Amino acid sequence: MKDQLKVGITYNLKRKMGSDLEAEYDDEKTITILAETIKNFGCDVILLEANETIIDTIKNKPDIVFNIAEGIQGRGREAEIPGFLNILQIPYTGSDETSLCLSLDKHLTKVIVQSVGIRTPKHQLFHKVDEKLVEDIRFPVILKPNQEGSSKGIFDACTADNDADLYPLLQRLLSQYQQPVLVEEFLTGREFTIGLLQEGDHIIVLPPMEIVYKKHFGKYDVYSYEVKKNYKECVEYHCPPQLTQAERDEMEKAAKEIFVLFDCKDMARIDFRCDAEGKLNFIELNPLPGLSKGYSDLPYAAERMGISFEALIRRILRNALLRNHIDYHI
Ligand SMILES: Nc1ncnc2c1ncn2[C@@H]1O[C@H](COP(=O)(O)OP(=O)(O)O)[C@@H](O)[C@H]1O
Ligand SMILES: [Mg+2]
Repeated sequence: MKDQLKVGITYNLKRKMGSDLEAEYDDEKTITILAETIKNFGCDVILLEANETIIDTIKNKPDIVFNIAEGIQGRGREAEIPGFLNILQIPYTGSDETSLCLSLDKHLTKVIVQSVGIRTPKHQLFHKVDEKLVEDIRFPVILKPNQEGSSKGIFDACTADNDADLYPLLQRLLSQYQQPVLVEEFLTGREFTIGLLQEGDHIIVLPPMEIVYKKHFGKYDVYSYEVKKNYKECVEYHCPPQLTQAERDEMEKAAKEIFVLFDCKDMARIDFRCDAEGKLNFIELNPLPGLSKGYSDLPYAAERMGISFEALIRRILRNALLRNHIDYHI
């Protein structure tokens, strides 16, 4: 067994507050809390900001990396750090480059999920503004940049009731985010997010969290960038929510199936929403969910199951150590 485990933390730091440009990045407090938590397990911690400086800082060679880096650019940005660490043969927590790349592309993810019979709203990927909406997609629809997260580009006014609403919004998103825009039928039902933790060969499903809107901005409730920023006044979280056993089983089964299908590692969070008839639909997969103590959804749901933030981080790190055959007890 090693004397003291050297754990690197890879992250991207929020610097310019205000806009949604760095919406996915973490603030200093999140990184400090994570570092303190891991130090308290008796490990050495090295902070590795996931930008060009990592080429030098990585020379401190960590035994393992706790990865929360969102990446710098492009459709595969979340895979930058895992890919880089693969070259150096440094193991890391969380999913690998492939799961992260795939799930960052919302359209591809939906196509894959649909292929195993899990329901997801009808959708169309727009590359240009002069494409026609296919006939079997019904209004209202929601528009989102295809490869963003943290509600980046999903503002309160991101829905369309007709062509007259759709095309100006499409034009704006295409030019602002410089990537294809995913148009999906809007689901008006209840909304849930569900966390999963991996423990060896087992997948533990955390209690689902229902997002219940208390403040309504427009015609439709959307867990938008504004709502996430002002979550205390805008939403309530019901965890566990009121669900029949059959509804809960269906959500857990679908969540596990998606986790396995994408070969996620250690943790993930999956968003679902019901249609007007109450049928459950998959929205998106987050294999790199936020881990801000007292704020992010996964730590919140874990807490509701009696898993403290410290215990959650310990489980994630422990599972990654186990997977990589590193004999160190934390
Ligand atoms: N098809 C849809 N129908 C209804 N609401 C949706 C749909 N797609 C997304 N939303 C709303 O937008 C929010 C953000 O969308 P999501 O795809 O989860 O993006 P992000 O990666 O930014 O979290 C969801 O939590 C939900 O409130
Ligand atoms: Mg989401």
